[in-house]
Amino acid sequence: MRLLVKNIARIVGIESTGRLRCCGADMNKLGMLDDAWLLAEDGRFAAFGRMDSLGDIAADEVVDAAGGMLFPSFCDSHTHLVYAGSREREFLDKINGLSYEEIARRGGGILNSADRLHETSEDELYAQAMERVREIAAMGTGCVEIKSGYGLSTGDELKMLRVIRRIRESVPLEVRATFLGAHAVARAYRGRQGEYVDLVCNEMLPAVAAEGLADFVDVFCDEGFFTVEETARILKAARKLGLRAKIHANELAVSGGVQVGVACDALSVDHLERMGREEIEALRGAATMPTLLPGAAFFLGMSYPPARAMIDAGLGVALASDYNPGSSPSGNMRMVCSLASIRMKMTPAEAINAATLNGAYAMGLSRDYGSVTLGKVANFFITKPMPSIEFFSYAYQTPLIRQVFLRGRKMCG
Ligand code: NIG
Ligand code: FE
Repeated sequence: MRLLVKNIARIVGIESTGRLRCCGADMNKLGMLDDAWLLAEDGRFAAFGRMDSLGDIAADEVVDAAGGMLFPSFCDSHTHLVYAGSREREFLDKINGLSYEEIARRGGGILNSADRLHETSEDELYAQAMERVREIAAMGTGCVEIKSGYGLSTGDELKMLRVIRRIRESVPLEVRATFLGAHAVARAYRGRQGEYVDLVCNEMLPAVAAEGLADFVDVFCDEGFFTVEETARILKAARKLGLRAKIHANELAVSGGVQVGVACDALSVDHLERMGREEIEALRGAATMPTLLPGAAFFLGMSYPPARAMIDAGLGVALASDYNPGSSPSGNMRMVCSLASIRMKMTPAEAINAATLNGAYAMGLSRDYGSVTLGKVANFFITKPMPSIEFFSYAYQTPLIRQVFLRGRKMCG
């Protein structure tokens, strides 16, 4: 199957140096080619060039980009998009100034999502999650990581991970699964956190590994959730089973989460609203990708991660949506890029690199995804004509994404 796209005003995100992530000043560099054509063959990028070099190329399908731009698909490396129902009641409670405890009593919080998930069948959970997957695909996401963590019992964690596997098998998006049994202490273990950690290490992790249901392990390492010691224990147990870490760290406090993540060779440490100098230092030279989730800071009205200081210190950062019912009920990666520019002073080029190549890195996928590179999987979208790449983040509500292609095939538009 050969797909030819003609009349592209600009191909954005061309990467030909073989780098698997970009850091520091390089984050502002985006490879581009103007007035171009592009060929995808058998689902991979096969060739591109300037329109004046387009000879007679045989193709099964020809698409006219009509002066729009072509971007590599977003790689959203942190979501919780498998969940039951929604939590807008909690949204209202927050507006009315209720405390965390009051909200939890009235049906908010992770534990209440776990109760609802428990009552929801695997088929229903799959149907609800698939609506969200279709929604993010139409908004330009081509690779997505999805976490468990609303199960909090062995049976329900496995149920969530089986739903993720079913999604993975039924969509052309590239899906990665993360086991997040240590998202909160289950109700049944209230006051017995150590025993819950034992359950995660001794029962849940082996069961998840035995069925091959997860690529990664996650822990909510933060004040009021899991400690640095508990996190290290879980990550070590997971490592023995072949699962690398991607952890929630430093959302609520300077928790030590960044340091334990780096020490355990986590693939990413995510959130990072609370960062000091030492945390930035710890990440320098590490393989761990700091991943920022400005949609959560926006929705919760919290302070944003210090993206500028991190990039200026030479770090690479990834951007992800954190799509979940409690702190970020949106998987719109374009909005995430706009927030990164508006609230974290990242340039639109830095944001695009963070949401594509570095997001792919944070899922271990950047050899095959995250840029327009010959041989990589042809996941891309075409926009309406735009005056500049900055316009994409600036006109943040204008529906600019016109056509979406995954594995070299047209999905929608
Ligand atoms: O990434 N911070 C921890 N977990 C989620 C929120 C989960 C929820 O409230 O349901 C997050 O923001
Ligand atoms: Fe999260």
